Amino acid sequence: MHEAGHEHGISRRSFVTGVVGILGGLIAALVGLPAIGYLISPALKRQSADEWVPLGLVEDLPQGEPTLFSFTRTKQVGWERTANSYGVYVVRRADGELDVFSNVCTHLSCRVSWSEDVDEYVCPCHDGRFAKDGSLISGPPPRPLDRFEHRLEEDGRLSIHLQEG
Ligand code: FES
Repeated sequence: MHEAGHEHGISRRSFVTGVVGILGGLIAALVGLPAIGYLISPALKRQSADEWVPLGLVEDLPQGEPTLFSFTRTKQVGWERTANSYGVYVVRRADGELDVFSNVCTHLSCRVSWSEDVDEYVCPCHDGRFAKDGSLISGPPPRPLDRFEHRLEEDGRLSIHLQEG
């Protein structure tokens, strides 16, 4: 009787070992497949992340007042699908030129908002402040807001160049 119990113990142990082995293999496959995708398609990844995004008609923009455009881009790389949301501030200056920059704070990537009360972009995380043209006024951010390369299409539409690192 003692013998039988001992044998049972061994077979359960080997069963558990087997299950752990199979699970380990499955996890390795799940983790490994997207990694292979990254390795074999770096060119594909760059292409999908590099595009011109139309924002809207420039003539519709109020002069001297920051206007926020928001959009989302979905990226599929191998098995992985990621949705990124973007915020872009556009200011039509008195001289007709456009300032086009990201609403992502250059400190730790919180989203800044334009405040009409103080005439500044304010970061809610650590109170970073930026002027209307995106330049740094105060707080911990190390540099001005990042600018987007932009162009005017023939139909008067503004597009920005979106590039993801
Ligand atoms: S993230 Fe904007 S001030 Fe820190």
